[in-house]
Amino acid sequence: MNAGMSGKARLCGVIGDPIEHTMSPAIHNAAFAQMGLDYIYVPFRVKEEELDKAIDGMRALNIRGLNVTIPHKVAIIPLLDELDPLAEKIGAVNTITNDGGVLKGTNTDASGFLHALLERGIEPEEKKVVMLGAGGASRAVSFSLVERGAHLVILNRRLERAEELAGRLSTTLNKEVKARELVADNLAQVLGGADILVNTTSVGMNPNINETPVPSGLLKPGLVVVDIVYNPIRTRLLREAEAVGAKTVDGVDMFVWQGVLAFEIWTGAKAPVELMRVEVVRQLKSHEK
Ligand code: ATR
Repeated sequence: MNAGMSGKARLCGVIGDPIEHTMSPAIHNAAFAQMGLDYIYVPFRVKEEELDKAIDGMRALNIRGLNVTIPHKVAIIPLLDELDPLAEKIGAVNTITNDGGVLKGTNTDASGFLHALLERGIEPEEKKVVMLGAGGASRAVSFSLVERGAHLVILNRRLERAEELAGRLSTTLNKEVKARELVADNLAQVLGGADILVNTTSVGMNPNINETPVPSGLLKPGLVVVDIVYNPIRTRLLREAEAVGAKTVDGVDMFVWQGVLAFEIWTGAKAPVELMRVEVVRQLKSHEK
């Protein structure tokens, strides 16, 4: 790891529970080393009931930045000193920055997701987008889509969660968002006229790599299929989408971009995006073995 670390080294990290599978330390430490920055990034397992103590610790130890992951993204909000308008509207924080003792919360998942689409030439503005899932990750993804001007319908197994998220988006962004139950009939209906399909459910994630949230017969060549699951990189959904000639975007890109944006906030330096991407893929491949 960062062999050149000095007494002036700045500390960053990620808090979550569980945390042992996080790839954030790998991408940030590789980026710090590449840029010759005197920083180090550490994973911390923080239990829900100890979140407030962890934040006290961030202050006491003068930790420069923390990423926040499951299950803390919403519960962290009242513990911070400031929230930027984006995080406030989304209602979730994934990045904290300690500016001279003032803890500021933001959300780089939303812009990370949008960056991942735009860098592949996919523009969601005025497009018909179907999003599957209404859990933790769905908040930031749906916000970035609706804010960008997409026409969104959310499908979720538990309809009430889809309705709640759609209601929240309609209120904060003043645009109509539809909610439906995630069942085959509804999928067939909404996918008929859709431009972009985004999976934010955990269906297909390792170890359930033979599962898919969408029957392959509903996929079509003109559709863009985005999966925010990144382990495995090519989910069954993406493999079947590719097989019918649909354009696909995998979850690695969103993961990399949320990290890039956090890195740039903390260090003020431009992040080595390609290196971080290579590092994620390398980690995932080594886990597969
Ligand atoms: P959270 O994101 O809040 O931590 P999660 O367990 O990660 O929750 O689940 C994320 C999403 O995957 C949710 O939309 C969940 O649907 P429900 O809200 O109905 O629970 C969805 N999901 C998980 N397993 C699923 C399955 N087998 N079929 C359909 N959707 C599923």
